Amino acid sequence: MTRDNLMEDHLRGLLERVGDQVDAVSDESAWIEVIQRMDSIYADIVRYQVELEEKNANLEEAHQFIQSVISSISDVLIVADIHGNIQQVNGALEGLIGRSAADITGAPLATLFMPDYVDMVEDFAEHIRTGVINDCEVELTGPGGEGAPIAINCTPRFDHDGRLSGLVITGRPLGELRRAYQDLRETHDRLQMAQQQLVQSEKMASLGQLVAGVAHELNNPISFVFGNMHALKRYEQRLASYLQAIHDGADREAREALRSELKIDRLLQDIEPLIEGSLEGAERVGEIVEDLRRFSTPNQQQCQPFDLARVVNTAADWVTKARRERPDVCIDMPVELTINGYEGYVHQILVNLIQNAADALEGRNDPRIDINVAVDNRRARIRVRDNGPGIATDQVLRVFDPFFTTKPVGKGTGLGLYISYNLATEQCAGRLGAANLPGGGAEFVFELPLEHGA
Ligand SMILES: Nc1ncnc2c1ncn2[C@@H]1O[C@H](COP(=O)(O)OP(=O)(O)O)[C@@H](O)[C@H]1O
Ligand SMILES: [Mg+2]
Repeated sequence: MTRDNLMEDHLRGLLERVGDQVDAVSDESAWIEVIQRMDSIYADIVRYQVELEEKNANLEEAHQFIQSVISSISDVLIVADIHGNIQQVNGALEGLIGRSAADITGAPLATLFMPDYVDMVEDFAEHIRTGVINDCEVELTGPGGEGAPIAINCTPRFDHDGRLSGLVITGRPLGELRRAYQDLRETHDRLQMAQQQLVQSEKMASLGQLVAGVAHELNNPISFVFGNMHALKRYEQRLASYLQAIHDGADREAREALRSELKIDRLLQDIEPLIEGSLEGAERVGEIVEDLRRFSTPNQQQCQPFDLARVVNTAADWVTKARRERPDVCIDMPVELTINGYEGYVHQILVNLIQNAADALEGRNDPRIDINVAVDNRRARIRVRDNGPGIATDQVLRVFDPFFTTKPVGKGTGLGLYISYNLATEQCAGRLGAANLPGGGAEFVFELPLEHGA
């Protein structure tokens, strides 16, 4: 009922009451009373009207406030009645679906969504009687009929008596979020790929030198086996001619003469050590191949106990043995030192450090590399020192930067220390540092825990 209707009603009621009184009372005092009553009723009416106008202004203000809040919400807002028919939407929804609020008000909720979601949305009105719907991914129908992905929450709406009167859907477009996530993923993948390539190219660069070292290592046991096999072959010929004489029925005297001439007794004594030696050589070859396999696939490393002494020795041998100018390598460490960690990574780091030291020593007098291992506070500290030129003072901090190299193109990649640093700190839970020695030369200190993860 409007304000004017209300006033009219009041006045009509008043006049009726006045009329009644006029009929019933005819003396003057009664008239005065009537007029007084009229005055007071009129004053009431004026007061009612003022209050009503105030309330109305407040209502208007509240309405505008709510409208301004709704229209500035960047999330999508849809209000529907209990039957699932749209009552109100905000600008964010209009923008997303390219339709005006007037166009869709009164239509069923489901008409806003892509066909795949219609059934689900039609169930909303029923669903919210028993609970809310959270973070549900659906697709609105965009301006060109395309799907506009959106994550929605749907909650029941109650009237002032606490009765369920409809539902409210708020939603956040997923398109932007998805695109940003996708971009991030792709960048991350590209970065990872680039990093893998870096690691690979450094490995290839040091592989050339390593192969020479390994070939050299293999040479020893193999030539040993060769030598033994040649001796055994000669023995076989002598044995065969001795046996032939026996088979031909040579008498005892002739046999004895042949026995001492062919040195059969010596020969029999030699056979066992020759075979033992060959087996040992073959085992050594097997070990080297096994080492090579273990160290060349550090990506499939497992954390397990290994002997650091063996790894240090192998790294030093492989790097230095095949170099034209072979530096003296002095290793000072416990005979055996068990580490529980990643053997392949430790080996790769040591190979890098020793290779760098050997490079720095090229063309210098009395080249020498000192490797010292000490245990302190459940950590092994490996120092690799050389008596080369050291690192230029302004470069000490840069040697771990990727691509920092002072070596000619084709010789240095500048990745050895960068990769070693990452392996040492991230994979081995250790540290790697560089410094110059007071007496000249460089020192790299690689520290790692005896127990990884302890
Ligand atoms: N023992 C060392 N003595 C002097 N300089 C060194 C030593 N080790 C590393 N460097 C310096 O650090 C640089 C980076 O080493 P590294 O990352 O292994 O890359 P690369 O060996 O391919 O140059 C080297 O080019 C060299 O200048
Ligand atoms: Mg290097």
